[in-house]
Amino acid sequence: MKIAEEIIEEEEMKKNNLLARDLKNILDYQNNNINNIRSLKIPTDKERGLPLLEIKKFRKDWTDIIITNKIRCSLENIIEENNKREILNVYGLKPKQKLMFFGPPGCGKTLSAQVLSGIMGYPLIYIRFDGVISSYLGETAGNLRKIFDFIKDGKWIILFDEFDIIGKQRDDPFEHGEMKRVVNNFLQMIDNFSGESIIICATNHQHLLDSALWRRFDDIILFDIPNKENRIKLTKRNLRSFRTSSIDYPLLAEKMDGMSPADIEMVCLNTIKRNILDNNNVISTEDINKQLIIQKEKIRFQKTSVGAND
Ligand SMILES: Nc1ncnc2c1ncn2[C@@H]1O[C@H](COP(=O)(O)OP(=O)(O)O)[C@@H](O)[C@H]1O
Ligand SMILES: [Mg+2]
Repeated sequence: MKIAEEIIEEEEMKKNNLLARDLKNILDYQNNNINNIRSLKIPTDKERGLPLLEIKKFRKDWTDIIITNKIRCSLENIIEENNKREILNVYGLKPKQKLMFFGPPGCGKTLSAQVLSGIMGYPLIYIRFDGVISSYLGETAGNLRKIFDFIKDGKWIILFDEFDIIGKQRDDPFEHGEMKRVVNNFLQMIDNFSGESIIICATNHQHLLDSALWRRFDDIILFDIPNKENRIKLTKRNLRSFRTSSIDYPLLAEKMDGMSPADIEMVCLNTIKRNILDNNNVISTEDINKQLIIQKEKIRFQKTSVGAND
């Protein structure tokens, strides 16, 4: 907070008034929210007594994520539309608020929700969908109602994570009727939602979700496995706090083909740890390559293990 206030002061001295004002707004908003959040009553599941959602605060921004220009443009557009909602309202228009993020695991869906939260200054409400599904008939609808009652006021980034549970269980004939009701119920609540928050549904298994669901969203964004250029950026970023010798990034990136950003992060962290423990304070191409081979083996194992084709 102190550093942020110093930056604001500095920007004011430099006559960067717009920037100073924006920063002040974010700071005020965060302060208010922290105090308000403490006094909020988080809804719980009646049967298990567990909280149905978590509120988290993030200070992340664009430097924390490496994405294609296309995704960056989509996200910036969403931010702008929401920041300038009043202008759109004058013309009877509404900003994009209901989003679907999909793509393979570890490619930045959850991280993007955190970055939106950090940049916009809206706290993140995190909802794991399997925590909402209750084994008691009818209880699930009650849980959803509690969540939507909670989020109707205020400005939040609301992330319904692992949303695909709905799709998965729909294949099960026993669950089918109940799940169908849950889906319809959820869609209706999404349709009726008129708050100022941004709702994001994230899934790894988009093929399980049908078109009726997709139509409800204002924007659908694919977070795919990174291209070579971004694999290089990810490797450099993850090693930035450590000394490196002249590393052959293109060669490594070539070998990282098919890896997610989370996999690449794991390779880099394991390399750093290995080097620290070996008292080797300069990372080389070969050091990374060793960990890369280990990580690839793990990925192969994951792909062939039970549940990989869910
Ligand atoms: N595009 C990305 N840029 C930088 N780091 C990433 C990116 N995607 C994933 N990561 C790293 O992997 C972690 C897990 O990613 P996450 O966003 O949770 O993946 P998912 O798409 O499964 O939600 C992140 O916390 C971050 O450290
Ligand atoms: Mg995720």
